[in-house]
Amino acid sequence: MALSESSEEITSSIVRDVAAQGYAVVEHFLNPEIILALASHALHLKKHSVMHKATTGLNSTASSLRGDFIDWIEEDEASDIEQIYLDHMTPLQTALNQAFFLGLFELESHFAIYPPGTSYQKHLDQFIDKTERKISCILYLNQDWLVEEGGALRMYLDKSRDQPTIDILPQAGTLVVFLSSDFLHEVLPAKRERISITGWFKTRSIKNAS
Ligand code: OGA
Ligand code: MN
Repeated sequence: MALSESSEEITSSIVRDVAAQGYAVVEHFLNPEIILALASHALHLKKHSVMHKATTGLNSTASSLRGDFIDWIEEDEASDIEQIYLDHMTPLQTALNQAFFLGLFELESHFAIYPPGTSYQKHLDQFIDKTERKISCILYLNQDWLVEEGGALRMYLDKSRDQPTIDILPQAGTLVVFLSSDFLHEVLPAKRERISITGWFKTRSIKNAS
């Protein structure tokens, strides 16, 4: 897909920040019309019970660690707006591969809706024994989010200590990118429904590699 000048600038600032500090936070990753369409698609999926309560780890029991509802984005069955999201993530995948030789070959992603009061406790995005998830990317879809509404993503910048942390508001258009193995993080409870897309750029798993 052709990139506009500003998408290229955003992509290179993400790569630069990930190189310098392991994570990046950018605003206005996608234009407001796309963000609105993604949000209403997520709400549509929730309303029609396509979303299911998220699970964690490799077992498939609903988790008390997290309270969100999710629906996976399948590349071969993507709706138009899901395809637009995927098309905007591809140049980022290419740029990350060029900069870090990560061999990222797949984006696994899902919509998430956290009902008011729910959270996701402190965790890492890699399963024990499974290290294919290399880069986590979270795109927020909430218009006019206020600090007092809670729901921040809290990132722990030092894996072995509780401090320092940064809190990122789930504001429409904000994208957070980080090295999946390096950052513990949690979703704080919010006073309002919280909508996002979480994606992971993955390498090929060893057992599938040829
Ligand atoms: C996740 C996650 C954070 C967020 O989906 O694994 O940590 O801010 N999400 O939604
Ligand atoms: Mn996570």
